[in-house]
Amino acid sequence: MIDKIKDYIGEADAFTTENKEELEAFRIKFLSKKGILNEFFAEFKSVPNDQKKEFGQVINALKTAAEDKVKGIVELLESREESKGVFGDLTRSAEPVIIGSRHPISIVKNQIIDIFANIGFNVSEGPEIEDDWHNFTALNLPEYHPARDMQDTFFIQTNPDVLLRTHTSSVQVRYMENNKPPIRTISPGRVFRNEAISSRSHCIFHQVEGLYIDKDVSFADLKQTLLYFTKEMFGKSKIRLRPSYFPFTEPSAEIDIYWGLKTETDYRITKGTGWLEIGGCGMVDPNVLKNCDINPDEYNGFAFGVGVERIAMLLYQIGDIRMFYENDVRFLEQFKASI
Ligand code: PHE
Repeated sequence: MIDKIKDYIGEADAFTTENKEELEAFRIKFLSKKGILNEFFAEFKSVPNDQKKEFGQVINALKTAAEDKVKGIVELLESREESKGVFGDLTRSAEPVIIGSRHPISIVKNQIIDIFANIGFNVSEGPEIEDDWHNFTALNLPEYHPARDMQDTFFIQTNPDVLLRTHTSSVQVRYMENNKPPIRTISPGRVFRNEAISSRSHCIFHQVEGLYIDKDVSFADLKQTLLYFTKEMFGKSKIRLRPSYFPFTEPSAEIDIYWGLKTETDYRITKGTGWLEIGGCGMVDPNVLKNCDINPDEYNGFAFGVGVERIAMLLYQIGDIRMFYENDVRFLEQFKASI
């Protein structure tokens, strides 16, 4: 009989469940009025005296084993229920995490950075609030120069020397002041112009300007660099350099790419011509180099600047520039796949 009780102790020790009904069945089997323990206690009387001691010990061991087991499992199940109340069901599968999306301006800006990084350009940045020297004067635009009117400027009223930069050419000046040629750098950033807001232009927009200074740089180098860029960015290789004027470059040109006229948005963005101006470029004016302590007899170079919004509008077929700044999540969510 003692062996039988020992078997039951083994059974009670090994028992495990997470289910309340199974636990109750276990309790009834061992500890209820008609349970195994009571049966053994009833038999205690008929056990011979010399075995009573050992019998009593094992039967008590069985009782403790069964009671401890029930108590342990009850506590475990209760603690689970408590944590359910605080944290929810800890065993349920995880909810999908809703990820954000990059802004289309950032996506395009990063692509431009990558494309130029592949041909050795680094990235330089500068302040959005600029002084007159870096935004105008050093770029061959002395005070009262009529070309200052080409870019309507936001001045800080109390101090005409402080303004919101109208282009990131200001960063190029800072870069040339602090670095010796050869220079290959692009300057992405936000710029500000006091212009009427419409579907095609805004008073805040983004540029990526590039600067290349070395010995014996030619206009052909500039053209080839822009061609490489348009091929990588748009998969198109038809560009047009239209003679133009910028005070900081000579000769200067506007960069147009041929986009075609496949969709209504193409018509709208290119004003029905299929061509879109994406920026300006030219050979850096010797005066600019001089202003930045670079000897123009030794070095020359080219510069260009492209508008990020224009490029994003073409790539993503966005007909209205204002969409970029409204931050409507229905618009932004559409760029999740483009990261
Ligand atoms: N800074 C000019 C602009 O914002 C663009 C440009 C950059 C033109 C470099 C020529 C060379 O309009």
